[in-house]
Amino acid sequence: MSSSTTFMSSLVVALASTVAPAWADADLANGKKHFEGICAQCHRTDAEGIQGMGVNLREAPLVKNGSPGAIAKFIATGHGPTKEFPLGMPAGGGESLSATDRTDIAAYLKGLTK
Ligand code: HEC
Repeated sequence: MSSSTTFMSSLVVALASTVAPAWADADLANGKKHFEGICAQCHRTDAEGIQGMGVNLREAPLVKNGSPGAIAKFIATGHGPTKEFPLGMPAGGGESLSATDRTDIAAYLKGLTK
């Protein structure tokens, strides 16, 4: 292995570790706790959704395909009411969650889709 290859591999390792942590270090137990305490009232404890209240998150496009950041952002913002879901989704599920809590919940949900 040439020294430049060695340099490149350490660079890749260094970059990967700066990009991954917020996600890799997510506290899944904290995410589950908040999900079951707040989100389950509309999305059900198993996240499969409740008619007229909340969508099935195991099948939700955003949860399946979205980045953790995008999921956490949606949780922060919520969604306005629609015909199918007259209550919509309140920002943060109606509770004041920290950014860390939102990331933990996003990580927990992502794990449910696998
Ligand atoms: C009052 C009911 C309600 C609560 C509480 C609630 N949600 Fe929702 N959520 C909804 C509804 C309704 C939608 C669908 C919005 C739409 O697209 O019409 C939704 C959509 C979502 C989506 C997007 C799915 C997709 O692919 O578009 C995510 C992710 C989500 N909720 C996560 C959560 C999390 C996490 C919590 C707890 C912090 C939570 N929700 C609390 C009602 C709720």
